[in-house]
Amino acid sequence: MDLDGELSVHGRSILERHCVLLMCHVSATTKILCGGGHMKIAVIYHSETGNTRQMAELVGEGCRKVEGVEARCMEVGEVDDDYVTESSAVIFGSPTYMGTCSWQLKKYLDSQPTGLADKLGGVFASQNWPGGGGGSFVEMTMIAAMLVHGMLIYSGGTVSGQPYLHFGAVSRKAPDEQLYRERCLKLGQNIATKARELFAGP
Ligand SMILES: Cc1cc2nc3c(=O)[nH]c(=O)nc-3n(C[C@H](O)[C@H](O)[C@H](O)COP(=O)(O)O)c2cc1C
Repeated sequence: MDLDGELSVHGRSILERHCVLLMCHVSATTKILCGGGHMKIAVIYHSETGNTRQMAELVGEGCRKVEGVEARCMEVGEVDDDYVTESSAVIFGSPTYMGTCSWQLKKYLDSQPTGLADKLGGVFASQNWPGGGGGSFVEMTMIAAMLVHGMLIYSGGTVSGQPYLHFGAVSRKAPDEQLYRERCLKLGQNIATKARELFAGP
């Protein structure tokens, strides 16, 4: 007990020690959530039954493989506009609905979202059937809107090696198979690597 009646340990008040511990905890948690990085990437997706969400999580994981990059996945109904504005790249994912991207994702792209211009952009899609529209029409529908918003579209392409990415990453249903997992991880990694090249500065 101090002279002024405050409990203390090794010369520090209990309150002071709690504050120090809390600050350490917040800092460690922030590092885990943000990957300890400085460049932000937003992954915006729509998913009703969880397949596209699983793809989004892998794409985010792929982004975080690149040093200095943090990534956050956001459901299309819960987009953090400030985070998008602060991001260097924005990656969109949608399920295939009637051969094209879902109306929920398209609604977001049609509603004048802020902060997309001049950012690197990528896409991914989940479909039920080979040739179901995901690998072509869903991705191109999103890409068209992203171009209109002034984004720079990128996937890494087949030149970045296997598993090949064409317009973006495509999975049949959830990315359970290794090929689909790897495509998602690779898309995130390719976009993050290019974003650093373009925007990280010297
Ligand atoms: C209304 C509706 C339309 C769909 N249309 C197609 C389609 O045209 N082609 C296809 O391959 N899959 C189609 N599907 C299947 C979904 O794209 C597929 O199940 C996807 O993995 C769902 O993603 P989610 O779990 O993220 O919601 C459709 C599903 C729904 C609900």
